[in-house]
Amino acid sequence: DKAGHKHFMSKEIAEQPAVVARAIEHYLQGSDIVLPGDGIDFTKIDRLTLVACGTAFYACLTAKYWFEQLARIPVEVDIASEFRYREPPIPNRTMALFVSQSGETADTLAALRYCKEKADKIVSVVNVTTSSIARESDVTLPIFAGVEVGVASTKAFTCQLTVLLLLALKAAKARGAQSDAELATHLSALQNLPGAINVALGAGDSIRRTARKLSEARDVLFLGRGLMYPLALEGALKLKEISYIHAEAYASGELKHGPIALIDKNVPVIVMAPRDSLFDKTVSNMQEVMARKGKVLLMSDSQGLKEAGDDVWEEIEMPAAPEIVTPILYAVPAQLLAYHTAVAKGTDVDQPRNLAKSVTVE
Ligand code: F6R
Repeated sequence: DKAGHKHFMSKEIAEQPAVVARAIEHYLQGSDIVLPGDGIDFTKIDRLTLVACGTAFYACLTAKYWFEQLARIPVEVDIASEFRYREPPIPNRTMALFVSQSGETADTLAALRYCKEKADKIVSVVNVTTSSIARESDVTLPIFAGVEVGVASTKAFTCQLTVLLLLALKAAKARGAQSDAELATHLSALQNLPGAINVALGAGDSIRRTARKLSEARDVLFLGRGLMYPLALEGALKLKEISYIHAEAYASGELKHGPIALIDKNVPVIVMAPRDSLFDKTVSNMQEVMARKGKVLLMSDSQGLKEAGDDVWEEIEMPAAPEIVTPILYAVPAQLLAYHTAVAKGTDVDQPRNLAKSVTVE
């Protein structure tokens, strides 16, 4: 049932304020983050290894910033199909964490089995709680996204991020890496997030107009720095999956190390840049693009859009939000942009060619 939407993808994008709120409510009891079963003792963990595929891998890349910055735990992130065949050493006091919407992705499951008897703790973040990955973990953290029908993952991604941020805050508290006041600030940022996602959804009409122009492009670049880098990767994946436009993402700082050679008036450059601590750096990358006649589509908040000046090609305005929740918030315009571009091109949004919802073969 598409609940009045033209596609499941659009319905699932619209559900995000509610499902993210549900995930937060489930884990947050007062100011305590409560995990199922015996939970996880983060004072006994010295490093994390995060493993997943596709969109879930980008959720892990985002989580690396959170675990390292908030909880000061070193994190490695790997694509499951690389991890399992490389057979990496797993030092003592390692927690291995697997993220999977379906819980049945063959490579992720094989990576989990490789870690058995090697890692101190096997944790999974899943949507389908009856899945193989959930069953074979020591601790399973459900994301409460509800059934996701669209092949391109949307609400599962934002719910994965929400649960991973909660887990990073849990680790930060256990390790004394954040003061009580800092933790309270982060928790209130999370509690305000569903409302902010709702406001972000309001940009839909303006994104639809921008998407019509974007649908004429053959190649698109996404740029982001810090927490926005994994989001740029996810934005590019969403766009290529459903609109079949060639899209690539780079960390903004990598622009001048190669990809800047691609810039001309035919390649739109989508810059994801809230007015955060790294904004000025990203603006200077943007100016390098514009100086080469590149068309910049800037996603930022009103302050960021104002500071970026009048030379940007298209703007998408997001509500201002605390830096740590911006990846969850900026997932929304990235999804809407891919969605409306695909609709403008007339592709099969919910069933893109060559793709399966659950990849149970290697
Ligand atoms: C992209 C997408 C895929 C999945 C990937 C992992 O929109 O949906 O990249 O994220 O196949 O699937 P799960 O999370 O089920 O392990």
